[in-house]
Amino acid sequence: MALVRVALGARSYDIIIEEGSLDRADAHLAGYARKGRLVVVTDANVAKAQLPRLTASLNRAGIAVAPIILPAGEQTKSWRHLEQLLDQLLALEIERGDHVVALGGGVIGDLVGFAASILKRGCHFIQVPTTLLAQVDSSVGGKTAINAKAGKNLIGSFYQPGLVLIDPSTLDSLPPRETRAGYAEVVKYGLIDDPDFFAWCETDGQRLLDGDGDAREYAIERSVQAKAAIVADDERETSGRRALLNLGHTFGHALEADTGFSDLLLHGEGVAAGMALAFRYSARLGLCPAAEAERVTEHLKKVGLPHDLASAHVKADGAALIAHMLHDKKMAAGTLPFLLARGIGRTFLSKDVVLDDVAAFLDEDRAAAT
Ligand SMILES: NC(=O)c1ccc[n+]([C@@H]2O[C@H](COP(=O)([O-])OP(=O)(O)OC[C@H]3O[C@@H](n4cnc5c(N)ncnc54)[C@H](O)[C@@H]3O)[C@@H](O)[C@H]2O)c1
Ligand SMILES: [Zn+2]
Repeated sequence: MALVRVALGARSYDIIIEEGSLDRADAHLAGYARKGRLVVVTDANVAKAQLPRLTASLNRAGIAVAPIILPAGEQTKSWRHLEQLLDQLLALEIERGDHVVALGGGVIGDLVGFAASILKRGCHFIQVPTTLLAQVDSSVGGKTAINAKAGKNLIGSFYQPGLVLIDPSTLDSLPPRETRAGYAEVVKYGLIDDPDFFAWCETDGQRLLDGDGDAREYAIERSVQAKAAIVADDERETSGRRALLNLGHTFGHALEADTGFSDLLLHGEGVAAGMALAFRYSARLGLCPAAEAERVTEHLKKVGLPHDLASAHVKADGAALIAHMLHDKKMAAGTLPFLLARGIGRTFLSKDVVLDDVAAFLDEDRAAAT
Protein backbone atom coordinates (compact mmCIF):
# COMPACT_ATOMS: atom_id res chain seq x y z
CA MET A 1 0.00 0.00 0.00
CA ALA A 2 1.17 3.54 -0.72
CA LEU A 3 -0.13 6.84 0.55
CA VAL A 4 0.38 10.13 -1.25
CA ARG A 5 -0.80 13.42 0.23
CA VAL A 6 -1.93 16.30 -1.95
CA ALA A 7 -0.86 19.34 0.10
CA LEU A 8 -3.38 22.12 -0.47
CA GLY A 9 -3.93 23.59 2.97
CA ALA A 10 -7.55 23.20 4.03
CA ARG A 11 -8.25 21.32 0.78
CA SER A 12 -5.52 18.70 1.34
CA TYR A 13 -6.39 15.04 0.80
CA ASP A 14 -4.93 11.55 0.65
CA ILE A 15 -4.49 9.24 -2.29
CA ILE A 16 -4.46 5.60 -1.23
CA ILE A 17 -2.99 3.10 -3.70
CA GLU A 18 -3.61 -0.49 -2.67
CA GLU A 19 -4.09 -3.63 -4.69
CA GLY A 20 -7.43 -5.18 -3.68
CA SER A 21 -8.62 -2.13 -1.76
CA LEU A 22 -12.04 -2.27 -3.45
CA ASP A 23 -12.67 -5.51 -1.60
CA ARG A 24 -11.76 -3.75 1.65
CA ALA A 25 -13.57 -0.52 0.81
CA ASP A 26 -15.38 -0.61 4.16
CA ALA A 27 -12.07 0.02 5.94
CA HIS A 28 -11.43 3.11 3.83
CA LEU A 29 -14.93 4.48 3.27
CA ALA A 30 -17.06 3.53 6.30
CA GLY A 31 -16.28 6.85 7.95
CA TYR A 32 -17.85 8.71 5.04
CA ALA A 33 -21.23 6.96 5.16
CA ARG A 34 -24.12 8.91 6.64
CA LYS A 35 -27.12 7.08 8.08
CA GLY A 36 -25.45 3.83 7.00
CA ARG A 37 -25.47 4.70 3.28
CA LEU A 38 -23.15 5.81 0.48
CA VAL A 39 -24.24 7.05 -2.94
CA VAL A 40 -22.02 5.61 -5.69
CA VAL A 41 -22.12 7.05 -9.20
CA THR A 42 -20.71 4.85 -11.95
CA ASP A 43 -21.19 3.93 -15.61
CA ALA A 44 -22.78 0.83 -17.10
CA ASN A 45 -19.48 -0.97 -17.84
CA VAL A 46 -17.99 -0.34 -14.43
CA ALA A 47 -21.30 -1.22 -12.77
CA LYS A 48 -20.93 -4.68 -14.27
CA ALA A 49 -17.21 -5.17 -13.74
CA GLN A 50 -16.37 -3.45 -10.44
CA LEU A 51 -19.44 -2.14 -8.58
CA PRO A 52 -20.26 -5.60 -7.12
CA ARG A 53 -16.88 -5.68 -5.36
CA LEU A 54 -17.42 -2.25 -3.79
CA THR A 55 -21.02 -3.03 -2.83
CA ALA A 56 -20.10 -6.40 -1.26
CA SER A 57 -17.38 -4.91 0.93
CA LEU A 58 -19.55 -2.02 2.09
CA ASN A 59 -22.56 -4.25 2.71
CA ARG A 60 -20.43 -6.54 4.88
CA ALA A 61 -19.82 -3.54 7.12
CA GLY A 62 -23.55 -2.79 7.24
CA ILE A 63 -23.34 0.12 4.79
CA ALA A 64 -25.98 0.27 2.06
CA VAL A 65 -25.02 1.39 -1.44
CA ALA A 66 -27.33 3.63 -3.46
CA PRO A 67 -26.00 3.24 -7.01
CA ILE A 68 -26.55 5.74 -9.82
CA ILE A 69 -25.62 4.12 -13.13
CA LEU A 70 -25.00 6.35 -16.15
CA PRO A 71 -24.27 5.40 -19.77
CA ALA A 72 -20.60 4.78 -20.55
CA GLY A 73 -18.77 7.15 -22.88
CA GLU A 74 -17.65 10.73 -23.36
CA GLN A 75 -21.21 11.88 -24.28
CA THR A 76 -22.10 11.45 -20.61
CA LYS A 77 -20.07 14.60 -19.80
CA SER A 78 -23.02 16.70 -20.95
CA TRP A 79 -25.58 19.18 -19.59
CA ARG A 80 -28.27 16.55 -19.98
CA HIS A 81 -26.54 13.95 -17.84
CA LEU A 82 -25.37 16.57 -15.35
CA GLU A 83 -28.98 17.68 -14.86
CA GLN A 84 -30.21 14.12 -14.47
CA LEU A 85 -27.42 13.32 -12.02
CA LEU A 86 -28.14 16.40 -9.90
CA ASP A 87 -31.84 15.54 -9.78
CA GLN A 88 -31.04 11.98 -8.73
CA LEU A 89 -28.64 13.19 -6.01
CA LEU A 90 -31.27 15.61 -4.72
CA ALA A 91 -33.88 12.84 -4.73
CA LEU A 92 -31.47 10.81 -2.57
CA GLU A 93 -31.33 13.79 -0.20
CA ILE A 94 -27.60 14.42 -0.45
CA GLU A 95 -26.57 17.12 2.02
CA ARG A 96 -23.60 19.49 1.88
CA GLY A 97 -21.71 17.40 4.43
CA ASP A 98 -22.18 14.17 2.44
CA HIS A 99 -19.61 12.40 0.28
CA VAL A 100 -20.64 11.11 -3.16
CA VAL A 101 -18.45 8.32 -4.55
CA ALA A 102 -17.33 8.49 -8.21
CA LEU A 103 -16.49 4.94 -9.33
CA GLY A 104 -15.18 4.88 -12.89
CA GLY A 105 -12.88 6.47 -15.44
CA GLY A 106 -12.25 10.12 -16.17
CA VAL A 107 -15.73 10.61 -17.57
CA ILE A 108 -17.44 9.68 -14.29
CA GLY A 109 -14.79 11.46 -12.21
CA ASP A 110 -15.08 14.73 -14.15
CA LEU A 111 -18.89 14.68 -14.17
CA VAL A 112 -19.36 13.73 -10.51
CA GLY A 113 -16.71 16.23 -9.41
CA PHE A 114 -18.50 19.02 -11.24
CA ALA A 115 -21.89 17.94 -9.90
CA ALA A 116 -20.48 17.87 -6.36
CA SER A 117 -19.03 21.34 -6.79
CA ILE A 118 -22.44 22.87 -7.47
CA LEU A 119 -24.86 20.62 -5.59
CA LYS A 120 -26.21 22.72 -2.70
CA ARG A 121 -23.21 25.04 -3.36
CA GLY A 122 -20.83 22.15 -2.86
CA CYS A 123 -20.93 18.71 -1.28
CA HIS A 124 -17.95 16.36 -0.90
CA PHE A 125 -16.87 13.64 -3.29
CA ILE A 126 -14.50 10.69 -3.34
CA GLN A 127 -12.68 9.46 -6.43
CA VAL A 128 -12.42 5.69 -6.94
CA PRO A 129 -10.78 5.64 -10.39
CA THR A 130 -10.97 2.46 -12.45
CA THR A 131 -9.01 3.30 -15.63
CA LEU A 132 -5.24 3.76 -15.71
CA LEU A 133 -5.77 7.26 -17.11
CA ALA A 134 -8.01 8.18 -14.19
CA GLN A 135 -5.69 6.54 -11.64
CA VAL A 136 -2.58 8.41 -12.77
CA ASP A 137 -4.12 11.64 -13.98
CA SER A 138 -7.75 12.73 -13.92
CA SER A 139 -8.73 11.65 -10.36
CA VAL A 140 -6.00 13.82 -8.85
CA GLY A 141 -5.87 17.60 -8.99
CA GLY A 142 -9.48 18.74 -8.88
CA LYS A 143 -10.17 19.66 -12.48
CA THR A 144 -13.83 18.85 -13.13
CA ALA A 145 -15.82 19.46 -16.28
CA ILE A 146 -18.46 18.64 -18.82
CA ASN A 147 -18.20 19.28 -22.57
CA ALA A 148 -19.85 22.14 -24.50
CA LYS A 149 -20.84 22.40 -28.15
CA ALA A 150 -17.83 24.68 -28.58
CA GLY A 151 -15.39 22.10 -27.25
CA LYS A 152 -14.34 19.61 -24.59
CA ASN A 153 -14.07 20.47 -20.89
CA LEU A 154 -15.19 24.07 -21.39
CA ILE A 155 -17.65 24.10 -18.48
CA GLY A 156 -16.32 23.11 -15.10
CA SER A 157 -14.60 24.03 -11.87
CA PHE A 158 -11.53 23.45 -9.75
CA TYR A 159 -12.90 21.28 -6.97
CA GLN A 160 -10.77 18.85 -5.00
CA PRO A 161 -12.02 15.45 -3.85
CA GLY A 162 -11.93 14.47 -0.16
CA LEU A 163 -10.11 11.21 -0.87
CA VAL A 164 -8.80 9.22 -3.84
CA LEU A 165 -8.92 5.45 -3.41
CA ILE A 166 -7.02 3.56 -6.11
CA ASP A 167 -7.25 -0.19 -6.52
CA PRO A 168 -4.93 -1.13 -9.40
CA SER A 169 -6.64 -4.53 -9.68
CA THR A 170 -9.68 -2.79 -11.21
CA LEU A 171 -7.54 -2.64 -14.36
CA ASP A 172 -7.97 -6.41 -14.75
CA SER A 173 -11.35 -5.82 -16.38
CA LEU A 174 -10.31 -2.77 -18.42
CA PRO A 175 -9.86 -3.43 -22.16
CA PRO A 176 -6.07 -3.64 -22.85
CA ARG A 177 -6.30 -0.83 -25.40
CA GLU A 178 -7.65 1.52 -22.69
CA THR A 179 -4.84 0.51 -20.33
CA ARG A 180 -2.28 1.17 -23.04
CA ALA A 181 -3.79 4.59 -23.76
CA GLY A 182 -3.59 5.47 -20.05
CA TYR A 183 0.01 4.30 -20.03
CA ALA A 184 0.89 7.22 -22.32
CA GLU A 185 0.14 9.56 -19.40
CA VAL A 186 2.48 7.47 -17.19
CA VAL A 187 5.29 7.87 -19.73
CA LYS A 188 4.48 11.59 -19.77
CA TYR A 189 5.61 12.05 -16.15
CA GLY A 190 9.02 10.59 -17.02
CA LEU A 191 9.35 12.80 -20.05
CA ILE A 192 8.37 15.98 -18.17
CA ASP A 193 11.00 15.94 -15.44
CA ASP A 194 11.91 12.41 -14.34
CA PRO A 195 14.39 10.69 -16.70
CA ASP A 196 14.90 7.80 -14.24
CA PHE A 197 11.19 7.06 -14.39
CA PHE A 198 11.26 7.09 -18.19
CA ALA A 199 14.15 4.59 -18.02
CA TRP A 200 11.98 2.46 -15.70
CA CYS A 201 9.21 2.61 -18.30
CA GLU A 202 11.63 1.35 -20.93
CA THR A 203 12.65 -1.65 -18.82
CA ASP A 204 9.48 -2.39 -16.82
CA GLY A 205 6.57 -0.61 -18.51
CA GLN A 206 5.56 -3.73 -20.39
CA ARG A 207 5.15 -5.60 -17.07
CA LEU A 208 2.60 -2.96 -16.04
CA LEU A 209 0.73 -3.47 -19.32
CA ASP A 210 0.81 -7.24 -18.75
CA GLY A 211 -0.98 -6.74 -15.42
CA ASP A 212 1.93 -7.26 -13.01
CA GLY A 213 0.71 -6.04 -9.61
CA ASP A 214 4.02 -4.63 -8.34
CA ALA A 215 4.76 -2.82 -11.59
CA ARG A 216 1.41 -1.13 -11.80
CA GLU A 217 1.35 -0.12 -8.15
CA TYR A 218 4.84 1.36 -8.53
CA ALA A 219 4.00 3.25 -11.71
CA ILE A 220 0.73 4.59 -10.30
CA GLU A 221 2.41 5.74 -7.10
CA ARG A 222 5.22 7.48 -8.92
CA SER A 223 2.83 9.14 -11.37
CA VAL A 224 0.50 10.30 -8.64
CA GLN A 225 3.42 11.69 -6.62
CA ALA A 226 4.48 13.71 -9.65
CA LYS A 227 0.98 15.01 -10.26
CA ALA A 228 0.37 15.77 -6.56
CA ALA A 229 3.58 17.82 -6.40
CA ILE A 230 2.69 19.83 -9.48
CA VAL A 231 -0.88 20.43 -8.29
CA ALA A 232 0.29 21.49 -4.81
CA ASP A 233 2.59 23.99 -6.49
CA ASP A 234 0.16 25.38 -9.07
CA GLU A 235 -3.40 24.30 -8.30
CA ARG A 236 -5.09 26.57 -10.84
CA GLU A 237 -2.48 26.53 -13.59
CA THR A 238 -1.42 30.11 -13.01
CA SER A 239 2.36 29.84 -12.63
CA GLY A 240 2.82 27.66 -15.70
CA ARG A 241 4.09 24.59 -13.83
CA ARG A 242 0.79 22.72 -14.11
CA ALA A 243 0.81 23.44 -17.84
CA LEU A 244 3.74 21.00 -18.14
CA LEU A 245 1.17 18.24 -17.69
CA ASN A 246 -0.03 19.13 -21.19
CA LEU A 247 3.11 17.69 -22.81
CA GLY A 248 2.04 16.13 -26.10
CA HIS A 249 -1.47 17.51 -25.73
CA THR A 250 -1.35 20.37 -28.27
CA PHE A 251 -0.31 17.97 -31.02
CA GLY A 252 -2.51 15.28 -29.47
CA HIS A 253 -5.68 17.38 -29.46
CA ALA A 254 -5.14 18.28 -33.11
CA LEU A 255 -4.83 14.58 -33.95
CA GLU A 256 -7.94 13.79 -31.89
CA ALA A 257 -9.82 16.59 -33.65
CA ASP A 258 -8.78 15.26 -37.06
CA THR A 259 -10.01 11.78 -36.17
CA GLY A 260 -13.27 13.30 -34.91
CA PHE A 261 -12.67 12.45 -31.21
CA SER A 262 -13.70 8.94 -32.20
CA ASP A 263 -12.65 5.40 -31.34
CA LEU A 264 -10.04 5.68 -34.11
CA LEU A 265 -7.81 7.49 -31.64
CA LEU A 266 -8.28 7.44 -27.86
CA HIS A 267 -7.11 10.46 -25.85
CA GLY A 268 -4.01 8.70 -24.50
CA GLU A 269 -3.16 7.44 -27.96
CA GLY A 270 -3.28 11.02 -29.27
CA VAL A 271 -1.05 12.08 -26.37
CA ALA A 272 1.44 9.30 -27.19
CA ALA A 273 1.77 10.41 -30.80
CA GLY A 274 1.77 14.03 -29.63
CA MET A 275 4.69 13.45 -27.26
CA ALA A 276 6.69 11.69 -29.96
CA LEU A 277 6.01 14.63 -32.30
CA ALA A 278 6.94 17.19 -29.62
CA PHE A 279 10.29 15.43 -29.09
CA ARG A 280 11.04 15.07 -32.79
CA TYR A 281 10.11 18.71 -33.35
CA SER A 282 12.40 19.70 -30.46
CA ALA A 283 15.19 17.68 -32.11
CA ARG A 284 14.52 19.41 -35.44
CA LEU A 285 14.90 22.79 -33.70
CA GLY A 286 18.23 21.60 -32.33
CA LEU A 287 16.95 21.77 -28.75
CA CYS A 288 16.97 18.06 -27.99
CA PRO A 289 19.47 15.37 -29.00
CA ALA A 290 18.01 13.34 -31.89
CA ALA A 291 18.91 10.11 -30.07
CA GLU A 292 16.62 11.05 -27.15
CA ALA A 293 13.70 11.83 -29.46
CA GLU A 294 14.37 8.45 -31.04
CA ARG A 295 14.25 6.72 -27.63
CA VAL A 296 10.82 8.26 -26.97
CA THR A 297 9.50 7.18 -30.37
CA GLU A 298 10.93 3.67 -30.01
CA HIS A 299 9.44 3.08 -26.58
CA LEU A 300 5.95 4.16 -27.61
CA LYS A 301 6.20 2.03 -30.74
CA LYS A 302 7.40 -0.99 -28.78
CA VAL A 303 4.41 -0.96 -26.41
CA GLY A 304 2.02 -0.57 -29.33
CA LEU A 305 1.10 3.11 -29.00
CA PRO A 306 0.79 5.53 -31.94
CA HIS A 307 4.02 7.47 -32.46
CA ASP A 308 3.48 9.35 -35.73
CA LEU A 309 0.66 10.65 -37.94
CA ALA A 310 0.17 7.37 -39.83
CA SER A 311 -0.01 5.17 -36.72
CA ALA A 312 -2.46 7.72 -35.23
CA HIS A 313 -4.72 7.25 -38.30
CA VAL A 314 -4.40 10.95 -39.11
CA LYS A 315 -4.91 11.90 -42.75
CA ALA A 316 -4.69 15.71 -42.51
CA ASP A 317 -1.63 17.66 -43.63
CA GLY A 318 0.36 20.03 -41.43
CA ALA A 319 -1.68 23.12 -42.31
CA ALA A 320 -4.97 21.40 -41.45
CA LEU A 321 -3.58 20.21 -38.13
CA ILE A 322 -2.41 23.72 -37.29
CA ALA A 323 -5.94 24.94 -38.03
CA HIS A 324 -7.17 22.51 -35.36
CA MET A 325 -4.59 23.88 -32.91
CA LEU A 326 -5.76 27.42 -33.55
CA HIS A 327 -9.14 26.45 -32.21
CA ASP A 328 -7.34 25.88 -28.90
CA LYS A 329 -7.33 28.52 -26.22
CA LYS A 330 -4.12 30.49 -25.81
CA MET A 331 -2.88 31.89 -29.06
CA ALA A 332 -0.90 34.99 -30.00
CA ALA A 333 -0.76 35.90 -33.71
CA GLY A 334 1.23 33.28 -35.61
CA THR A 335 2.60 31.60 -32.48
CA LEU A 336 1.30 29.22 -29.87
CA PRO A 337 2.76 28.37 -26.44
CA PHE A 338 4.21 24.92 -26.98
CA LEU A 339 5.72 22.32 -24.69
CA LEU A 340 9.10 21.35 -26.06
CA ALA A 341 12.02 19.41 -24.60
CA ARG A 342 15.75 19.84 -24.23
CA GLY A 343 15.92 16.11 -23.59
CA ILE A 344 14.13 13.31 -21.74
CA GLY A 345 12.92 14.78 -18.44
CA ARG A 346 13.63 18.33 -19.57
CA THR A 347 10.29 19.67 -20.81
CA PHE A 348 9.74 23.41 -20.93
CA LEU A 349 7.16 25.89 -22.20
CA SER A 350 8.26 27.72 -25.34
CA LYS A 351 6.43 30.90 -26.23
CA ASP A 352 7.87 31.50 -29.68
CA VAL A 353 7.05 28.46 -31.76
CA VAL A 354 6.21 29.52 -35.33
CA LEU A 355 3.12 27.73 -36.56
CA ASP A 356 4.15 27.62 -40.24
CA ASP A 357 7.32 25.88 -39.14
CA VAL A 358 5.34 23.31 -37.15
CA ALA A 359 3.17 22.67 -40.23
CA ALA A 360 6.28 22.13 -42.36
CA PHE A 361 7.69 19.77 -39.72
CA LEU A 362 4.48 17.70 -39.66
CA ASP A 363 4.58 17.24 -43.43
CA GLU A 364 8.28 16.36 -43.36
CA ASP A 365 7.77 13.96 -40.49
CA ARG A 366 5.02 12.14 -42.38
CA ALA A 367 7.15 11.95 -45.53
CA ALA A 368 10.16 10.66 -43.56
CA ALA A 369 8.06 7.84 -42.09
CA THR A 370 6.88 6.50 -45.42
N1 LIG B 1 -9.86 16.09 -14.74
C1 LIG B 1 -8.68 15.91 -15.30
O1 LIG B 1 -7.66 16.41 -14.83
C2 LIG B 1 -8.60 15.06 -16.52
C3 LIG B 1 -7.36 14.65 -17.00
C4 LIG B 1 -7.31 13.81 -18.10
C5 LIG B 1 -8.49 13.40 -18.71
N2 LIG B 1 -9.69 13.82 -18.23
C6 LIG B 1 -10.95 13.37 -18.83
O2 LIG B 1 -11.05 11.98 -18.64
C7 LIG B 1 -11.90 11.44 -19.64
C8 LIG B 1 -11.30 10.16 -20.16
O3 LIG B 1 -11.16 9.25 -19.09
P1 LIG B 1 -11.00 7.69 -19.33
O4 LIG B 1 -9.95 7.45 -20.34
O5 LIG B 1 -10.88 7.07 -18.01
O6 LIG B 1 -12.36 7.31 -20.07
P2 LIG B 1 -13.75 6.67 -19.60
O7 LIG B 1 -14.15 7.15 -18.27
O8 LIG B 1 -14.68 6.88 -20.71
O9 LIG B 1 -13.39 5.12 -19.51
C9 LIG B 1 -13.00 4.43 -20.67
C10 LIG B 1 -13.87 3.19 -20.90
O10 LIG B 1 -13.52 2.18 -19.98
C11 LIG B 1 -14.68 1.71 -19.27
N3 LIG B 1 -14.19 1.32 -17.95
C12 LIG B 1 -13.71 2.12 -16.99
N4 LIG B 1 -13.18 1.40 -15.99
C13 LIG B 1 -13.34 0.11 -16.31
C14 LIG B 1 -12.96 -1.11 -15.68
N5 LIG B 1 -12.25 -1.14 -14.56
N6 LIG B 1 -13.32 -2.26 -16.31
C15 LIG B 1 -13.98 -2.25 -17.49
N7 LIG B 1 -14.31 -1.13 -18.15
C16 LIG B 1 -14.00 0.03 -17.56
C17 LIG B 1 -15.63 2.86 -19.31
O11 LIG B 1 -16.96 2.42 -19.18
C18 LIG B 1 -15.37 3.42 -20.71
O12 LIG B 1 -16.06 2.68 -21.67
C19 LIG B 1 -12.06 12.51 -20.70
O13 LIG B 1 -13.35 13.04 -20.63
C20 LIG B 1 -11.03 13.56 -20.31
O14 LIG B 1 -11.44 14.86 -20.65
C21 LIG B 1 -9.76 14.63 -17.15
ZN1 LIG C 1 -4.25 13.77 -21.11
